[in-house]
Amino acid sequence: MTQSRLEIIAVDDDAAFWEDQDAVLSGLRESPPRIPPWFGYDELGSELFEEITELPSYYLTRVEHEILRRYAGEIADRLGSAAVAELGSGSAKKTRVLLAACTERRATTYLPIDVSREMLVASGDALTAEFPQLRVRGLWGRYEAGLASLRESDDGPVAVAFFGSNIGNFTPAERGALLQEVAATLRPGDLFLVSADLDKPAEVLENCYNDPAGMSAFVRFRQNHLAHLNRRFDGDFVLHHYYPRAHYDTATATVEGHLYATEDHTVSLKNLGVQLEMRRGDSINVGFSAKFRRPEFVADVSALGFALDEQWIDPVWQYGVFLFVRT
Ligand code: TRP
Repeated sequence: MTQSRLEIIAVDDDAAFWEDQDAVLSGLRESPPRIPPWFGYDELGSELFEEITELPSYYLTRVEHEILRRYAGEIADRLGSAAVAELGSGSAKKTRVLLAACTERRATTYLPIDVSREMLVASGDALTAEFPQLRVRGLWGRYEAGLASLRESDDGPVAVAFFGSNIGNFTPAERGALLQEVAATLRPGDLFLVSADLDKPAEVLENCYNDPAGMSAFVRFRQNHLAHLNRRFDGDFVLHHYYPRAHYDTATATVEGHLYATEDHTVSLKNLGVQLEMRRGDSINVGFSAKFRRPEFVADVSALGFALDEQWIDPVWQYGVFLFVRT
């Protein structure tokens, strides 16, 4: 029964997923070297990330969930009859709240885009079982391929959701390119529902992105990037030669997560033909989390062909969910 309401479509070319050597190489050649963010999300990494979201000091997931719970009805009303697509849906835990409100009002199509086929199947099964009014078409592939497939299909109005403040995990150039791609996918009147973590004092953010005393979710999550590189490229990173520290750079309003070398050593990644000379105290960048000032964020997104329709912000202005209309 639920089976017929769940469909998974491969939108990306299978092999293309792992044609990432060039990106890895150019990242490692930056100074300090940078590991692309998708190395954080192998199976273990995804579990460790879940652990991070449960740390008492990591407020993003909780605050976003509260906003969505509180305003799901209002958001669903604003979405009208639009199909809901989502970039990087993962377990779709928070989207569940929104889909509950949508399906209470009308039959709804959900189009999650994710690189993990297992996640698409598991979340799609659970959601169609829970909501009889829901149809799920999982688009298996990277964001770009998922958006391209949305552009080709004719589902009527679409709302693209992008949660988790994941818009902040790109370099500014990558972020612009992604937003442009979303704009190019949508037709006038379509919607873009995007969340953003708001700017805060450095102490708060550095607390959020470092392990609290006695906990190790961030250490293991960050070090796992190295294990993943070792596996993919026959590398010899020694995980315990690195400890993580996140700093907030107020000039760029970005938290940078780094791994610091505890001693001088050389790392080689055989299948990439790369050697890294690391000195004690040198670091490797394992991710950005940009923070946003509301007016600038709204202006930046609007400049790419959107107008702000509505915003939902928690009572103490930690985090916002913004609904834009494609103009
Ligand atoms: N976008 C969220 C954030 O910036 C979640 C996230 C993505 C994250 N990659 C991360 C959190 C790496 C910690 C480390 O916080």
